[in-house]
Amino acid sequence: MHMDFKQQIQQGIPLELPPEKSYPLDANRAPRRKNILTSEEQQLAIRNALRYFPQKWHEILAAEFANELNIFGRIYMYRFKPDYKIYARPLEEYPAKSKQAAAIMLMIHNNLDNAVAQHPEELITYGGNGAVFQNWAQYLLTMQYLSVMTDEQTLHMYSGHPMGLFPSSINAPRVVVTNGMMIPNYSKPNDWEKYNALGVTQYGQMTAGSFMYIGPQGIVHGTTITVMNAFRKILPSGETPAGKIFLTAGLGGMSGAQPKAGNIAGCITICAEVNPKAARKRFDQGWVDILIEDIDSLVARVITAKEKNEVVSIAFIGNVVEIWERFEKENIFIHVGSDQTSLHIPWTGGYYPVGLSYEESNRLMSEEPEIFKEKVQDSLRRHANAINHHTARGTYFFDYGNAFLLEASRAGANIMDENKIDFRYPSYVQDILGPMCFDYGFGPFRWVCTSGNAEDLDKTDQIAMDVLQKMIENAPEEIKLQMQDNIIWIRDAQKNKLVVGSQARILYADAEGRSKIAAAFNEAIAAGEIGPVVIGRDHHDVSGTDSPYRETSNIYDGSKYTADMAMHNVIGDSFRGATWVSIHNGGGVGWGEVINGGFGMLLDGSPEADVRLKSMLFYDVNNGIARRSWARNEEALFAIKREMERTPGLKVTIPNLVDDTILKNLF
Ligand SMILES: NC(=O)c1ccc[n+]([C@@H]2O[C@H](COP(=O)([O-])OP(=O)(O)OC[C@H]3O[C@@H](n4cnc5c(N)ncnc54)[C@H](O)[C@@H]3O)[C@@H](O)[C@H]2O)c1
Repeated sequence: MHMDFKQQIQQGIPLELPPEKSYPLDANRAPRRKNILTSEEQQLAIRNALRYFPQKWHEILAAEFANELNIFGRIYMYRFKPDYKIYARPLEEYPAKSKQAAAIMLMIHNNLDNAVAQHPEELITYGGNGAVFQNWAQYLLTMQYLSVMTDEQTLHMYSGHPMGLFPSSINAPRVVVTNGMMIPNYSKPNDWEKYNALGVTQYGQMTAGSFMYIGPQGIVHGTTITVMNAFRKILPSGETPAGKIFLTAGLGGMSGAQPKAGNIAGCITICAEVNPKAARKRFDQGWVDILIEDIDSLVARVITAKEKNEVVSIAFIGNVVEIWERFEKENIFIHVGSDQTSLHIPWTGGYYPVGLSYEESNRLMSEEPEIFKEKVQDSLRRHANAINHHTARGTYFFDYGNAFLLEASRAGANIMDENKIDFRYPSYVQDILGPMCFDYGFGPFRWVCTSGNAEDLDKTDQIAMDVLQKMIENAPEEIKLQMQDNIIWIRDAQKNKLVVGSQARILYADAEGRSKIAAAFNEAIAAGEIGPVVIGRDHHDVSGTDSPYRETSNIYDGSKYTADMAMHNVIGDSFRGATWVSIHNGGGVGWGEVINGGFGMLLDGSPEADVRLKSMLFYDVNNGIARRSWARNEEALFAIKREMERTPGLKVTIPNLVDDTILKNLF
């Protein structure tokens, strides 16, 4: 019997066994995972997988799932992937009793869209392992639950598994998501391999497992803000970055945003990439302006760009260490330097050592891994030395959350501060995003227009810009620049062609800005000017994430190894009106290294939505500012005191600061 899209969603697990599917082993497939289970555990994994299906299919499916486990290290249940096209459809196309549930379906679909997701067949959205679900049965059941749920029920999801619909209330979230929540002693990387293979946990990364990924726009925006502020730190006020150099490396998944961001920030970006295919891909996409293959031409082109005060991005196909060393000889001053090679995985292709060809490195890494490791460490020492020579001349260098300083220090590079505890250079959160954005509450507010119409997105861009322009008139000096950056960003967003998948946008705003923009959207929806809008954020933010080497690396009272803030955030958001909330172990920096949470909220133009957005966005930002101010962060103290003046119901505990001389002679 032919079923339309709605009927297929409503049926959940099909009544008849669908035909077996085979998929080409193309580049979009997830990497094969470790075969880590004992034979007893393998049986348990099959038993676990079969509990989604009627007994009459068990014999066939047991053999098939055993095969998947053997080949891929996981059971994805490929046979159950539906045949309809998965993408963010207009809201009304979803079969649902609750509009909020339909909005969640739309966001799930956006995260699994072939054009958006990294490995859609394996339900992986980004980051190699950022899963929306562990398998297709979980997907089918979840969509079915969402299609029948009312506004007085909540769906509880355990790492992709829909535990079920529970009676709740109209004010409760429609969905509560947890991903990878482990007993702390079972949170090592191999624990993820094992319990994910058993089908009982998953790595949700950040926005993948919380249905909030909107394609590469988020990373372009974050990188733009970072590069702009890096220049701002070093340039006299009023001077623009035009004709000034930003040198970095990597044109891969995330790092590929650097030249585009450099162009938006308005500097000369030089980005080294050893893999010619990766460099060409970014060139073909229009994310980098020029490709250069030999270092002499690079030197000549850069000298011209400096002389002419150009804004241009250049991909150099070669090793970044060559540039650092050659520019020193040529006396080419580098204003801002960083690195986005994948040093979180240095021995398996994350970092290519200088002096070896790309092919030779690939051979060594698989055939002689010990020698390859030595070469990587030699290269890191050279790399750090060259950077040190430039910074001695005034270059501003920062670590971009890729473990460059950590791995360089492990290689014995001259990268430590005189106190032998800290690194000589700051991380981008310690120096830039922490004090300049997060501590003031500026973070990644995003929205999706559920009509799917580009005109709606244009209208929301305009609304957001109008709100920010009005706010900046009376904003204190401390935050004016942040607002200005985001006004420019939103003004140019359409021109920069950032949309992939749903009609979505991101910008950074503080609590007041996020709330005012959302309220203005809600009014426009009520007036019938635009369709409903989903608001949310990524987890690289003020309050949602405890991550001691990234989001909370600028917390210095010892509490950066705690995760109370992220837990309070998800609980606090959940009873203040979020449509769905999520909390995850892992994301960005690795399993066991971070706890991060997020939310989504449907704005439908109702007065209730107005109440919800104001209450929830206020807490979602100020929770983190309160914590950062208790950690004595100056900018956060400023921000929370300002908020208390504005909001009578807010009373936050303020730290008393101790005079250093009292502590000096105590121990
Ligand atoms: N903190 C953040 O906001 C943030 C954002 C993005 C990425 N990152 C980190 O940056 C790193 C890169 O992420 P990605 O997704 O782009 O990874 P990726 O592996 O897709 O890209 C890295 C690129 O670097 C190239 N490369 C390696 N060694 C090189 C060398 N010596 N010279 C020139 N090129 C070299 C590789 O060929 C590869 O294409 C990761 O460690 C990631 O965690 C952090």
